[in-house]
Amino acid sequence: MPNLCIVGLQWGDEGKGKIVDYYADRFHSVVRYNGGSNAGHTIVIGKRTYVFHLLPSGLLKNKRLLIGPGVAVDPQTLTEEVEMIRREGHKANLAVDGRCTIVTPLEKAMDSFIEELKGDKAIGTTKRGIGPSYAMRALRLTPRAGDLARGTFDLSSALKFYRSLMKKPPSMEGWTESARTSLSGLIGDVGEEIMETNEAGRSVLFEGAQGVLLDLVHGTYPYVTGTHTLASYVPASLGIPATSLGDVMGVAKAYATRVGEGPFPTEIHGKVESLIRETGREYGATTGRPRRIGWLDLVALKYAVKMNGVSTLALTKLDILTKLKEFKVCTHYDVDGTETAEFSRALPQLSSVKPVYLDLPPLYGAELTTARLHRPVEKFVEYLEDEMKVSVSIVSMGEERTATHRRVTD
Ligand code: IMP
Ligand code: MG
Repeated sequence: MPNLCIVGLQWGDEGKGKIVDYYADRFHSVVRYNGGSNAGHTIVIGKRTYVFHLLPSGLLKNKRLLIGPGVAVDPQTLTEEVEMIRREGHKANLAVDGRCTIVTPLEKAMDSFIEELKGDKAIGTTKRGIGPSYAMRALRLTPRAGDLARGTFDLSSALKFYRSLMKKPPSMEGWTESARTSLSGLIGDVGEEIMETNEAGRSVLFEGAQGVLLDLVHGTYPYVTGTHTLASYVPASLGIPATSLGDVMGVAKAYATRVGEGPFPTEIHGKVESLIRETGREYGATTGRPRRIGWLDLVALKYAVKMNGVSTLALTKLDILTKLKEFKVCTHYDVDGTETAEFSRALPQLSSVKPVYLDLPPLYGAELTTARLHRPVEKFVEYLEDEMKVSVSIVSMGEERTATHRRVTD
């Protein structure tokens, strides 16, 4: 069986955590390859809700958990998560790559500092220090996870840099020792381990964080995260052959949300917005901020499907649509009087495009059962498959692990 990458197709918060947890059974390891503790992956089992920021979502299936070199690791968050799940009776069988860039309090302070500097142009970051951490790596100013283990973690150049920019950088006293303790015994070579796992005939699952539209280069720049979110980043970030990527499953929510600033063509305001936010519990899993709400944007989704080479889709939060008396999807944008369905063409002026909507039969009150999709829901899923030219493998109809319908028996 090939490896599988599960990637978010919108602005993050598509429900990837649940889908990763669902598929993890079939894989030997679950691997985070991008982002850091800006991510918030939610898994609901019975009455218990777990939110993971750094630990891969295969955790509750007792999988080997790998954090690859493309992840910005905050040692404190990692320890908190490992301890949280230990209290719950689980054990993290975890390795963190020695090449991971490390988030210190300095990067978090820098994140806030830059946001303040930008004033009304602020991105609305999660303030988890993710952008600055990647920037410090690009500037070759920061040591990495392996340096902590080797005792070569030297922050002196970074400190000089921060002192030249900030009046009062946070105190770093005792930080290195505590970070070393957090990562002690965890440092490994994740790329090498994945290659060995594959050679032994076992497959791995790559868990994407954030979504395509937050990709540093291909998203809605500058309102993006500090790294790549695309599936094609998997091999480069992990240092494995491009051919190891395997299949790509794209996760899309049945409507759209965005947290933070930036263009959002299908954003809505008013009663439907509140209804979706409250029934869909659309509050940031990392920051608790209310997410902005909009209709499903097929123009953006096609771009995401195309760019990721998505082979199949997971559709989430179908249950929320059954609470809505209207249902729209955006099929085109009006860009200065010209209609286009090409997202990349509209991207440079995304904040001024007007969405062109198609009204679909509302799914209000539609019955949802996991055994089969009832006709109105099935019709919408088929419509989406026709538009996206890819199959929908799985439909999520509730946050609970079991509230899941599998359309294909693969
Ligand atoms: P940063 O990644 O913290 O630098 O934030 C940059 C932008 O990405 C902000 O708009 C954040 O709200 C957004 N963002 C970062 N991580 C996530 C996520 O996991 N889900 C949704 N939005 C995110
Ligand atoms: Mg999230």
